[in-house]
Amino acid sequence: MEKYIGRKIHHQPLFTSHNSQLTATTRTVMETSSQSPASKRPKLSTEATYDEVTLQKWQQGYTSSSNNDQTRLPLIDLRSKDAHAKNHLNDASSTIVHLPFDDLLSGERSCELPPRHVEFAIIIPADLDRNQVEDFFFATCSKATSQSRKPWLVRQVVQETNAVWEDATSLEMLSSGDDAHILPLPRLWKPDQMVEKILFPLLKQKLHVEKDDFVVWDLGSGAGRDVSFLAEELKHQTQLENSSRKVKIVGFDNHKGSSRRSLPLWKNRMVGDVTESRLLNLKNIILLEEGIREENGLACVYAIRYLNRRMIDYIATDAPLKSGCLFAMSHFCKEAGAEWNWDHPKVRNCRVMYSYFSI
Ligand SMILES: C[S@@+](CC[C@H](N)C(=O)[O-])C[C@H]1O[C@@H](n2cnc3c(N)ncnc32)[C@H](O)[C@@H]1O
Repeated sequence: MEKYIGRKIHHQPLFTSHNSQLTATTRTVMETSSQSPASKRPKLSTEATYDEVTLQKWQQGYTSSSNNDQTRLPLIDLRSKDAHAKNHLNDASSTIVHLPFDDLLSGERSCELPPRHVEFAIIIPADLDRNQVEDFFFATCSKATSQSRKPWLVRQVVQETNAVWEDATSLEMLSSGDDAHILPLPRLWKPDQMVEKILFPLLKQKLHVEKDDFVVWDLGSGAGRDVSFLAEELKHQTQLENSSRKVKIVGFDNHKGSSRRSLPLWKNRMVGDVTESRLLNLKNIILLEEGIREENGLACVYAIRYLNRRMIDYIATDAPLKSGCLFAMSHFCKEAGAEWNWDHPKVRNCRVMYSYFSI
């Protein structure tokens, strides 16, 4: 295995052909090359070091410098939709997610990338310029907002070559066609922990027991990840039970950007048919009440990191919710008198624990 230590300036194009004899080569990303002058490339992180690996090497795992554990990294396939339909990797014991690089560049699917502290691997399409990929993952400044940002932790790179598909065949990981209809799809992001660990099991149980339409509202849904998570998992439940019941998860927000971000996410996650985005100022209790009255089968209303005291008091007291409708909320909180050592959110936005227990 070839190792480069420290920051290295390459004097040759970074995009080199795959050498199947090598199991891994460590690369440190440069800011200058004979192909693209430094002035045209964004500033890249000094942490931008990754191993160039074969498929076998990725499958064997990666030893993280932070904890010395050997684990198989989640793998992102950056190839186009057409290339993916022809052939792709499929392995039930790994997390392999297809996110076409063009959709990341356009921003349409960047919210599906893992958090920036999670290490992962990528497959680079044969026809893609490596510099572009490095600029995207390792830039220290956002192109859109010019604000500084942490680079993503790409730790292994598999360069697509014929050898990759030969390896995939011998490792019995080769698949073709569209298997994306099998829900829930693997994901690299996490929903809110209360939604995943408490609300979803309750909803699953409720879905199983009740026979009516099943509607869930997310109040202040933002980018729509929690909606997506519940829609994927609940749709999966109805598929398992071979049920024709109508399940719908609705995201409410007063920001137009919410539906702009949520709708592509839900479509790409195969839940466009069971989700809906509604633009509403939730401070307007009259409109909220009208919405509740018009909705048949409202099984649950929840709010994550959106605290609107009037709305919560109204839901707890006067809202015309049917008996058995669940209400859940999750917000930053701490015990009374405890210190708050985080920069975000500010302590003034943090609730004191138990303050809502009496509603
Ligand atoms: C901190 S974000 C939380 C988003 C999402 N629930 C999450 O946990 O990622 C709060 C969301 O509430 C929305 N919001 C704020 N005031 C609102 C209002 N009056 N009516 C509807 N939505 C509102 C914001 O646009 C934003 O998307």
